[in-house]
Amino acid sequence: MNATLPEIAVDAARVVAELKKLATFSAEAEVPAGLPEPTTAVSRVVFTEPDLAMRAWFTGLCEEAGLTVRVDPMGNTFARWGDPAASGAVGTGSHNDAIPHSGMYDGTVGVLGGLEAIRALQRAGFVPVRPIELVMFTSEEPTRFGLGCSGSRVMTGAMEAAEVAALTDPEGRSFDDVRRAAGFSGDLADARLAPDHFHAFVELHTEQGPLLEREGLDIGIVTAIAAPLAAEFEVLGAGGHAGAVLMPDRHDALCAAAEMVLAIEAAAKSSGAVDTVTTVGEFTPHPGHGNSIANRVRFTLDLRDTDGDRRDAAWAKIRDGIDAICARRGVTATHRVLNADPPAACYPLVVDAVADAAAGLTTKRTISRAYHDSLFMARVCPTGMIFIPCRGGVSHRPDEFASESAIGHGVLVLARTLARLATS
Ligand code: GLV
Ligand code: MN
Ligand code: MN
Ligand code: MN
Repeated sequence: MNATLPEIAVDAARVVAELKKLATFSAEAEVPAGLPEPTTAVSRVVFTEPDLAMRAWFTGLCEEAGLTVRVDPMGNTFARWGDPAASGAVGTGSHNDAIPHSGMYDGTVGVLGGLEAIRALQRAGFVPVRPIELVMFTSEEPTRFGLGCSGSRVMTGAMEAAEVAALTDPEGRSFDDVRRAAGFSGDLADARLAPDHFHAFVELHTEQGPLLEREGLDIGIVTAIAAPLAAEFEVLGAGGHAGAVLMPDRHDALCAAAEMVLAIEAAAKSSGAVDTVTTVGEFTPHPGHGNSIANRVRFTLDLRDTDGDRRDAAWAKIRDGIDAICARRGVTATHRVLNADPPAACYPLVVDAVADAAAGLTTKRTISRAYHDSLFMARVCPTGMIFIPCRGGVSHRPDEFASESAIGHGVLVLARTLARLATS
């Protein structure tokens, strides 16, 4: 395919410099002394001050590249090379929000790498037939409102705008109030994309797992994205005096919840597939004092699988296990499902374009165990993903790292893929 393409030269050093600048838009500066992680931590939560400052900087970069920038009522940012009114664009992009105490590559490589792919095509004199549009999605991470991919869910109609508007943050403020206070106006429902907006979509991302590095490969050609489920539990028991309440009389909510966490782990381990994974990442006992028995515990569940049916079977097993623990310990547990999404298959049009674009590099076909906005983009247009290796497979940690050469390979493959899709 590339015989018809001009020579594309990616400026990977520039992307790395921009990633480093992006990392300075952060609520967290240094990792506290004594922790094993050597680098600066990043925290950029949606609609907080660092997020808004980052958006202004990023918009400037896009305008410098001659792109037409549009921001929808969700805060999703579109930067287009080509006719602003034309349908059938080729899309790329990812997210720039970052969970607390994380690193500088998750999502950002796909946003700034997408921008560099466009600049590299411009420098090469490429003339796209279809517009090429870079998207920075709002809140891929669930940090503030408990829901991942809120921007792409509304864009693709995977979730009603009204449901997203009503989500609340830990301070009880609604998504709608917070985004308006942050300067994003208009009807959230208008963030829904027209059905013919995109001809295809491709997202560049770090693998966030160890396989590419372990096997010494340059590029992962993603064929499917795993099915995530998120839920929140509340366990109610009986509190009391840590000295005075005798053990046979206790209904300790924390002990019950601790057993539930282990039942959740066991459900993943016994599914018969390594692809079933569970995480309890938040666990809050009340009242949280050393000499007071917990009467209440709130905890979260993150459950994922590449197979939707197996994910659902694990979910059923978890609920049965929790019911049994409640009965045995005389406590109650309620839960709320925040999202339960099916897996997505990547589309041959994009998978094949990525495979062609990676000619000359070492590759493997792989699946994404992390979720991405592409999980939802796949519902409205042919979608695929390009993975690059990251050190030790580490992500969602301050010491997350992808090398300049890995980023350069990823951006080159992305640029060639965009070129192919924008001329077909
Ligand atoms: C989001 O980053 C996720 O996959 O958890
Ligand atoms: Mn992430
Ligand atoms: Mn990500
Ligand atoms: Mn993700």
